[in-house]
Amino acid sequence: MSKPVVLLFEPIHSQAVELLAQHAEVRMADSLEPEYLLNNVSEVQGIIIRANGKVDRGLMEASPNLKVIARHGTGVEAIDLYAAQELGIKVVNTPEANVESVAEQCLGMMIILAKRILQADRDLRNGDWDSRYRLTGVELLGKTLGVVGIGRIGYRVAELCHRGLHMPVLYYDIVSNPEAEQGLGAVRVELEQLLETSDFVSIHLPLVPATREIINAQALNRMKSSAFLINSSRGAVVDQAALILALQHGTIAGAGLDVYASEPLPANNPLLQLENVVVTPHMAAHTEEALLRMAMIVEDVIAVLEGDEPKNPVLAG
Ligand code: 3PG
Repeated sequence: MSKPVVLLFEPIHSQAVELLAQHAEVRMADSLEPEYLLNNVSEVQGIIIRANGKVDRGLMEASPNLKVIARHGTGVEAIDLYAAQELGIKVVNTPEANVESVAEQCLGMMIILAKRILQADRDLRNGDWDSRYRLTGVELLGKTLGVVGIGRIGYRVAELCHRGLHMPVLYYDIVSNPEAEQGLGAVRVELEQLLETSDFVSIHLPLVPATREIINAQALNRMKSSAFLINSSRGAVVDQAALILALQHGTIAGAGLDVYASEPLPANNPLLQLENVVVTPHMAAHTEEALLRMAMIVEDVIAVLEGDEPKNPVLAG
């Protein structure tokens, strides 16, 4: 009997590919252009998608044998979940896999911004030793952290900051988080209050209609001029044009960004000209450990293909 075909949208950890290959024929997409995909999915029974590409209804309908769509990572906004449910296709993801890596990157960005490490590095490489007299940072100790969306990653950022740096934690979420309240003394507040009071605002929201550009010009205006914004969730939760203006005009002190309104971030984007911004190319989850954990989504792919229940279904049923 021939093995089921699984299409990878992007490369994943080799250890996971080896495991998958024992159960399936693994194919690598040559392109993520819709036209290419539509012409290359007719035999596919499983798809593994990372941060790029889309699995919409059209693609699902063009793959009559499709049983499982696996998200290497967490956010499932590029998958039409309604269509998948209607068509009986399982959707799975790896909600735990990148928590530590992303949370550590957020903390790293806070420290880099607060201590002005990138500016100092650039200045010194340009022969400017005297920047040590100009560049004065701030400590994180005791500063207020505002967590927007306290899911797994938001919680871990709060924990690192509270336990390690005694930072009081405010959070905004549609549901309360008793663990954060009891364990970290976190206080649930309205978004407006969080923005007005926090020294560091770290965003950990999924991209859904209600969160799209939730951090807009008005929200940015509420922030302290000394405050820093960190976004490692989805670029579109921030109005990027408004953020650029806020950074240019000193409405806020700086930003650490791993995600953008449109990815890849174009080389001429004004964010890349700003001194008070730390940018990384959507790689907060890209550590040895998290890449392997995310790639082990293949276990759920194999489970579904072999008629077993997956460990991490996104949709019930
Ligand atoms: C990936 O490369 O697969 C992504 O970085 C996963 O992380 P995400 O949940 O932020 O998309």
